[in-house]
Amino acid sequence: MAIHPLSPLTVAEIEQGAALVAAQLGEQATFSAVNLVEPKKAEVLGYTPGDAVVRQLRFVGYDYPEEGQRDGGFEGIVNLQTEAVVINRIETGQAAIGLADFVAAVTITKADAGWQEAMRARGVTDFDLVQIDPWPTGGYQHPSIPEGHRVHRAISFVKEDPTDNAYARPVQGLIAHVDITAGKVAYLEDHGVVPLPTQSGRYDAASQPEFRDSLRPIDITQPEGASFQVDGHAVQWEGFNFRVSIHPTNGLVLHQLSYQDGDENRSILYRAALSEMVVPYGDTDPMHNWKHVFDAGEANIGSLTNSLTLGCDCLGEIHYFDHNVVNWNGTARTIENAICMHEEDYGILWKHHDSLTQSTEVRRSRRLVVSAVHTVGNYEYGFFWYLYLDGTIQMEVKLTGIIGVSAVADGDERPDVAPLVAPNVTSPIHQHLFCFRLDFNIDGTNNSVYEVEAEPLPIAEDNPQGTAFRAKSTLLESEQQAQRDCYPQRSRYWKVVNPERKNGLGKAVAWKLLPSATPTLLAHEDSIIAKRAGFARHNLWVTKFEEGAFNAAGDYPNLLNSGGEGLPKWAEQNRNLEAEDVVVWHTTGVTHMPRPEDWPVMPVEYCGFSLMPVGFFDRNPTLDVPPSKACAKD
Ligand code: CO
Repeated sequence: MAIHPLSPLTVAEIEQGAALVAAQLGEQATFSAVNLVEPKKAEVLGYTPGDAVVRQLRFVGYDYPEEGQRDGGFEGIVNLQTEAVVINRIETGQAAIGLADFVAAVTITKADAGWQEAMRARGVTDFDLVQIDPWPTGGYQHPSIPEGHRVHRAISFVKEDPTDNAYARPVQGLIAHVDITAGKVAYLEDHGVVPLPTQSGRYDAASQPEFRDSLRPIDITQPEGASFQVDGHAVQWEGFNFRVSIHPTNGLVLHQLSYQDGDENRSILYRAALSEMVVPYGDTDPMHNWKHVFDAGEANIGSLTNSLTLGCDCLGEIHYFDHNVVNWNGTARTIENAICMHEEDYGILWKHHDSLTQSTEVRRSRRLVVSAVHTVGNYEYGFFWYLYLDGTIQMEVKLTGIIGVSAVADGDERPDVAPLVAPNVTSPIHQHLFCFRLDFNIDGTNNSVYEVEAEPLPIAEDNPQGTAFRAKSTLLESEQQAQRDCYPQRSRYWKVVNPERKNGLGKAVAWKLLPSATPTLLAHEDSIIAKRAGFARHNLWVTKFEEGAFNAAGDYPNLLNSGGEGLPKWAEQNRNLEAEDVVVWHTTGVTHMPRPEDWPVMPVEYCGFSLMPVGFFDRNPTLDVPPSKACAKD
């Protein structure tokens, strides 16, 4: 299998690169992430098999610098061919949180005499049964901790025994501000004792008194195998061609998505992936009012990818892709079965019954599912790309896991900001906002973006009954203009057009971004959250393509306390967007008002968007889908 410029990193590449970087750093250096430095777009587009491929890796981590120096971590760029290494100190923000930091925060908190005393005051004496969750405190760094130090806020939960779900017993009112750089709890915030809830939150199979016996088996079989072809990380399925990988910040990435249309392989997206995400809490409680984790840029969601299990996570004829990550010590680890790919029957694709001839034509819809699931602390996020026979591309985010909680005394709940989900357990209201970066390349690099919506027309001579409406189409000409929000009442969508390329009807070929009815950031525009997560203030941004501009809140949002990096900064240039290489950024998400049914583990909640061809094809491209065997006429 030949190496491609976008081939994911191998174990050998990671370990070779880590050794070269480590040789430039002190003994104390620890790694938190590694990714392939993707070659420039023009180089990738110009690549033909057999060309020399340059392999550059970016390592990120911490190296405990001299006292008084900023402790933001390092970025080590290494070229595997020349073995050249460039080490950059991270001065704007800090490296993402890695396992070594996580362990340090837990150890420091549990060793702190003040924390121990506060736990004893709550009746907790066996600290082995205490689970500590370190949280990013970006934007709300305690004033006693110097800028440039690494900081976590540690909150605690108590288990009944080592296998228990600790989240059922949150320790209310106690937050340890951990200064990792100084190796101590710098400040212990204690708002007073609230009794621990008593009801169990066990959701594991062994803890259920009985299982229902009414469900009969469903087997998914494809006796002739799946319809896709895989070569390394390149996939072909029903006209679609793409490559797939996992990036530490961006998670599951689709590269160079195109469609084989007759003799021509027509490009659609150069790269499509999560860019950043934020989970801001609306509760005023001091346990939650600072929380707004960036699970992509602060926690490296892609490094927290699950290893999936056939028959449990994924059903049917599955192809798995593995993913290699770097351990804190520079060794590599393979997450087996990190990406799941399979086909699903999706009901009716199209149907018509001709009542005069009594003939029926019906076709089955099918989709290709490419997915990965990530566990970030208490929560799971699944990212599911779906490709459909009719050309539709869909992103569905699946949210599950365990909701954030507080303990409350009887009668103290505040149902508008933290509804009761179990006896003496409340869950704060919050949002999950996911910003996807969609680098369109529709039949070439230069595209334009239009906002299209239904516009009711005034009563006039040609509209005497007031029934008329039209599709109003507005070119988004510049980056400042291209900051837009959903408007479901007007069926608003955004259309990416190649003005140079015409279809068989003489119109410019296009794809539309069809959003769901999705919120934007609810935090006040003057809030710290709005500054740090500026991308989430609008559902749509369009920018001019820029090499390396992947992450909507900047590359290192961890402890970037004032924010300001990324999308809003790039858009300040207000560059022209007409017939340019444009990048579309779409934020989709949910405002989560927790329910009792979300406890103790949350049934999947969904959000996402679709991309649909609009005149990319000249007509329904699925007329050649054969009828199912069951309905084929003899
Ligand atoms: Co939620």
